[in-house]
Amino acid sequence: MRLEKLSLLNFKNITECRIVPSAGINCIVGSNGAGKTNVVDAIHFLSMSKSALSMTDGQSVRHGEPFFMLSGDYTTDGDMGVTVTCGFEKGKGKSLKFCGKEYERLADHIGVVPIVMVSPSDGVLVSEAADERRRWLNAFLSQLDHSYLDATMRYNRLLAERNTLLKQGEMLLPELLDVIDERIAEQGERVAAARRDVLERLAPIAERLYGEIAAEGESVCLSYRSELNDTPFLEILRANRQKDLVMGYTTSGIHRDDVTMLIGGYPLRKFGSQGQQKSFLLALKLAQYKLLHERLGERPLLLLDDLFDKLDEQRLQKLIRLTSNEEFGQVFITDCNRERIISILKESGKEFRLFSVADGEVTQEEV
Ligand SMILES: Nc1ncnc2c1ncn2[C@@H]1O[C@H](COP(=O)(O)OP(=O)(O)OP(=O)(O)O)[C@@H](O)[C@H]1O
Ligand SMILES: [Mg+2]
Repeated sequence: MRLEKLSLLNFKNITECRIVPSAGINCIVGSNGAGKTNVVDAIHFLSMSKSALSMTDGQSVRHGEPFFMLSGDYTTDGDMGVTVTCGFEKGKGKSLKFCGKEYERLADHIGVVPIVMVSPSDGVLVSEAADERRRWLNAFLSQLDHSYLDATMRYNRLLAERNTLLKQGEMLLPELLDVIDERIAEQGERVAAARRDVLERLAPIAERLYGEIAAEGESVCLSYRSELNDTPFLEILRANRQKDLVMGYTTSGIHRDDVTMLIGGYPLRKFGSQGQQKSFLLALKLAQYKLLHERLGERPLLLLDDLFDKLDEQRLQKLIRLTSNEEFGQVFITDCNRERIISILKESGKEFRLFSVADGEVTQEEV
């Protein structure tokens, strides 16, 4: 997939901008707070129908304005031109259109314009609680497979129902819990199988890519951790029923799954340096890129926000060399240091274009 033209109107601090990116690498430079991340976030929005950063759509509307509007013209790898527009108006909500036609369900758009975004906030994947890793896994899998998204939504609904039942005490009809358990087990097994499958495929690619980015002799390991790996979910639910009734909520299930990340056999969170953690996340995201490409038959857009943060010169060069490969299509990189990025990109040999952002205005520069 290639973004040919991008327009933003009242999106965060950008009043209005229209850019024509290169098919190769696009660099967005500017000082802190200029709006670089906002530009890549707009590209994210057009693919995922939400911001990678803001909690609500309303937060993406430029202060004092009633709405924002985004539009992207793309060419698929099969050479077809498509347009995606996304607008949000306060008090009215969001509208997402593909080639002029409004989607009935926003979820249907996920994966149509595949993307992978690397951003400084990915740090939470290593450092924070398991729910961040599940959120990442869910977003990734929903681009790959719409039935996955449906199964997680059904699971969450059933889980909420089950938890309500568990709180009913004496009033509770055990037969009702039996029915819910069977349904929840079915959806849970489906989600767990998809997660297991994708992580089994992702792990060897990420581990190999880490070796390409990092110093020699470092090794990492990625795996899926779930109670459901060893025991059927229905059995777990039945075994834990008494405990769940005492606690008043469901204590086991895929809502407790995690992704284990190790460096040299030890937890990355505790024993990885900041640069090693960042390298690991990059390897993970690039592996995700390769898997999306393989499954969807379309090269995703690669968004690298603040790539240079915490990486030493050597890792950076290896990384740019890696992403300059034809296998990675169109790339967007943001950086504060204009000269540094220009010199690294000139070395890479791949076609690139430079955009500078200042005071919410974006302009293409000659280099
Ligand atoms: N809804 C909004 N309306 C107006 N301005 C906004 C809105 N949301 C965010 N901003 C502004 O956007 C700016 C941040 O932009 P952005 O995060 O893209 O900067 P950046 O160039 O990536 O900076 P850095 O180099 O620090 O990462 C801030 O000044 C912030 O106040
Ligand atoms: Mg930024």
